[in-house]
Amino acid sequence: MRTITTIAELRREVAAVRERHGSTGPGAGDPVVGLVPTMGYLHEGHLALVDRIRELVPFVVMSLFVNPTQFGEGEDFEAYPRDLSRDMELAEQRGVHVLFTPSVAEVYPAGRPLVRVVPGPLADVLCGAFRPGHFEGVLTVVAKLFGMTQPDVAVFGQKDYQQVALIRRMARDLDMPVRIEVVPTVRDYDGLALSSRNAYLTEVERVRARTLSAGLFAARAAFAEGEAAADRLKGCAVITMAEAAVNPEYLELLDPDTLAPLAEARAGAVLAVAATVGATRLIDNVIL
Ligand code: PAF
Repeated sequence: MRTITTIAELRREVAAVRERHGSTGPGAGDPVVGLVPTMGYLHEGHLALVDRIRELVPFVVMSLFVNPTQFGEGEDFEAYPRDLSRDMELAEQRGVHVLFTPSVAEVYPAGRPLVRVVPGPLADVLCGAFRPGHFEGVLTVVAKLFGMTQPDVAVFGQKDYQQVALIRRMARDLDMPVRIEVVPTVRDYDGLALSSRNAYLTEVERVRARTLSAGLFAARAAFAEGEAAADRLKGCAVITMAEAAVNPEYLELLDPDTLAPLAEARAGAVLAVAATVGATRLIDNVIL
């Protein structure tokens, strides 16, 4: 595995790989280059993305960049967990070919870019309603990473459901020649969705946090038994979370593509939740 810190070097490496594979560019012919965008502090959720992309392409770039523009004021940009040497080891073991770890100055040489990606109405709901500017920061950096790497395929985790919906929409609306691949959420032994932010939880908070997934699973079980009313399904989840004094910031039953709220559940609908446990904001979702 090579660790690369500059865009110029990344471009040279990707061009050489494309030449070796007789590839003329992204989206043309067999896929060659895959991108796994991350903010590091890797866990099995990230590594499952690597496993998936290795099934699709011969050459895997993982970016590791804690993107300041997607953190709001008072959020955890400074405190976000970082461990580069451990990440390097894990990425190499899992078969990443290039780990791209640019500095903030490399990605944003002139500070916050003047031209940014406008996420539109899909960002007005769920996390977007509570984190103004977050998805503009995410989409802008993902568009930049696509521009730097020019991948044929990029892979993201289902845990960030709204993020994936927006990235898919960006790729489609802006004609980006990249296939967006989504990998199911990887969970801990007790159902808690893996997240780098789980590192913030104390032992007691960790026990309380598992009620997010337990609540979603309770609602999914009720749906499987024939319950379809959104209010009653959400009620199942809320009761489970309330047992650990967890109050959702939002808990919504949604159309999987438009993210519009649904009054009646149907197969494929998404039940998504966000809640703060202690000082840690967690998100999770299930597809019914
Ligand atoms: O999901 C993440 O880790 C980040 O939002 C991403 C996609 C790497 C952009 O910074």
